[in-house]
This record gives sequence, C-alpha cells and structure tokens, in this order.
Amino acid sequence: MKPLSGKRVLLGVTGSIAAYKSIQIVRDLTSAGCEVQVVLTDAAHHFVPALALQILSKKKVVSLLFDPSSDAILHVTLATGFDLILIAPVTADFLAKMAAGLANDLLSTLLLATKIPILLAPAMDLGMWDHPAVHKNVAILKDRGCLIIDPVFGPLASGLEGIGRMADEQKIVDEASRFLLKNSQGTSRSLAKEVVLITAGPTREAIDPVRFISNRSSGKMGYALAEEAYKFGAKVILISGPVSLPAPFGVETIYVQSAEEMKKEVEQHVKQVTVVVMAAAVSDYTPVYPVNQKEKKRPQSLQIKLTDDILKGLSKYKKGRIFVGFAAETADLFENAWAKLKEKKLDLIVANDVLQEGAGFDTDTNIVDLIDAKGRKTSLPKMPKTDLARRILEEVILIRQAVYEKV
Ligand code: CTP
Repeated sequence: MKPLSGKRVLLGVTGSIAAYKSIQIVRDLTSAGCEVQVVLTDAAHHFVPALALQILSKKKVVSLLFDPSSDAILHVTLATGFDLILIAPVTADFLAKMAAGLANDLLSTLLLATKIPILLAPAMDLGMWDHPAVHKNVAILKDRGCLIIDPVFGPLASGLEGIGRMADEQKIVDEASRFLLKNSQGTSRSLAKEVVLITAGPTREAIDPVRFISNRSSGKMGYALAEEAYKFGAKVILISGPVSLPAPFGVETIYVQSAEEMKKEVEQHVKQVTVVVMAAAVSDYTPVYPVNQKEKKRPQSLQIKLTDDILKGLSKYKKGRIFVGFAAETADLFENAWAKLKEKKLDLIVANDVLQEGAGFDTDTNIVDLIDAKGRKTSLPKMPKTDLARRILEEVILIRQAVYEKV
C-alpha cells in the first residue's frame, strides 16, 4: 500500500510565478497514493497549464464559481470530503482575500464554506512578504488555525534575492504528508504520540589525529528512518555519526564521532523518548590508547579493545519503550539476529545479509528480514531504504498497538 493511499487533498493554486511548481506537487502527492483535486484561480491560469495538472491528477481541474456546464454547486461540494486543503502557491492578494473573508471566486468561496484543515505555502517578492499588511493577514489566518509553510530565502522572479520564494516542492509535500499521516487517528498510520530516537551512520574511533577505525556505513538507512518517522508525525531525535547527508527536515540532529560519544548522547536522551531505533553501525573496536600525535608505524603499536554495546546497555530503560535493532550478518542470518534480539531485549530486529547485492552498507536499497520478539520472521524483497524505513515504522506502530491491547 502507498503511504498516502485513501487520502484526499484539494490543491488550490493562485496566481504567482511559483504556480508552475504545483505540477511537481501534484505528481508527488499522487505517486504517494493521494487523490488530488486541483482548483485554479483565474490568475493561476497565466502561470500553469490546467491540462498538465488535469493529466497528472486524473481529475478535471476546476476554476469557475458559476459553471453553466455543471449542475453541482461546486463551492459547496468541494468544501467537504477532503483530508486537507493545500494552497501552493498562495499570493499576497489571496492571503488578504482569505483574511478578509471575501468570496468572489471558486477557491475563496469554498474556503468560506469549509471546515477542512488548511495548509498555505505563500510566495511573493521580498518587500511584499515583509509588508505589515501581509504580516497581519498571516497572523489572522494562523489565529484561525491555518498552517503556514514559510517562504524561504533565495533568488526571486523580480531578480532580487531575499525571503519570499515558495518553499520547495519536496518540503511542501513532506509537510502535507506529515499532516495527513499525523491525523490518521484510529488507523495504523500515525506516530504522532511517539518521540523516536534514531541513530545513524558509522562511528570513528581515533587512533591518532589522522587515522581512525570505522566502517562503510553511509547513514542512508538511519536518515531515511528519521525522515519517514517525522512524516508519520513523530518528534524525532537523530544521533548521527560522520556522514555526508543533509540533516533531515524537522528533525533534531546531534552529531557525534566515536562510539563513546554516541553512547553518551543516547543515554542522555533515552528517558525522553518512547521508541529507539538503533540503525548506526557502531564500531565494535576502539584503540586502547588513542594518542594526540601521529603515531609512527611499528609492529604491535596498536592495541584495541571492544566498545560498549550501546543498545544492550539500554535494557535498564526498557519499561514501555520500543527498541529496534539491526543485525548486519554474513552467515546464519536468522540464528544470529535472533540471538541479538534476545541478548539486547529488543522488540524487533532488522536482519540483513550484507554480502547480498543491493543490501547493507552504502547502497540505496536493502534486503532484510524483520524478526519480532515472538520469533516471527517477515522476509522483505529488495526495496529502496525509504520504503523499508516506512515498513519498519509501520511495524513499530503495530507493536505499540499490541502493547496497548495487552494493557
Ligand atoms: N550496537 C550497539 N553498540 C555497539 C555495537 C552494536 O548499540 N557497540 C547495535 C547496532 O546499532 C545494532 C545492533 O547493536 O542495532 C547489532 O549490531 P551488529 O553490528 O549487527 O552486531 P554486534 O552486536 O556488534 O555483534 P557482531 O558484530 O558480533 O555481529
């Protein structure tokens, strides 16, 4: 099932140059399984072809308040039956219209008739976004419960540079998804009540100022988990080893180098979280005596010891918390993963044979078995790490529901 299957969004598009970006928004929402009904204002027709939106949404794009070819009272029929109204872009003029409660076209009129939550992505020139009238209108709309995705800094159509550019399409789709999933109450799709701690990437154990012990982890799995958990509505804390990935949007990201630093941060945060997903490839070995100066190579100069097992050490904080671990194996996948699940008192372990092509470190895909605390194994096919992240989080939701059912 796609992440937004069954969700319905009304996308309003108003007359800004950023209107062309609505094409990508429709594409991303529909690819995620969402049904999208586009409503264009008259001015938006100057900037985006209705036919493109119609083909991508597979629905007639509507604009007219008084449409002689339709027997439906569109502004009333469109005022119900959606999970979210997203207006992207929304112009300064349209914000003013909404704030004043005007109803002189299809979009503004249906907005007066609706009780559906509204998400707004403004776009305008920097001077306009900075104008007190716009500030006031935004404040009025926020006060009425509209959610705003603030415009961002960047080059503007006027040739100027500043804040006013519509947030990028991906961010708008992420915010809409987060809203839709967070509000899936009663369904199996929300992590809105959870605080999720995720670790990601490798750790680096310094031998001296230029050398270290590490591994090939890219952090992609942990970062995908953090992004998806945020979209499921969770508050997310990501503790990351050194990777070259951008910090995920909306996630508190804490950077560490060594296993010892990761352990310290995990232990500092564990009490405030309800779920821990330990996706980091923590180095098992660390030098006994790291030195401040570059070591000369000589036989037996390096002594190493085992690092503390962070996940195992968390068992004293178990209580109602859900713990998920990973098992990177090269043989006897189930036996080894099951032993780790038992030893570390986990609710779920994600086991992968890192020798398989398309699995393991530094790939965009993974091939795993999910093993739960009852020893039930689900073998998943090769899939992108983003899809796998969603699958793992759905499992966490099921575990949480099972815990509640027991109480
Ligand atoms: N882990 C941890 N602290 C460590 C080592 C591992 O918290 N010092 C966590 C990993 O993040 C993972 C799980 O324990 O969630 C299993 O890690 P893995 O490397 O597969 O196994 P190890 O327990 O290190 O055992 P081995 O290397 O012997 O297979």
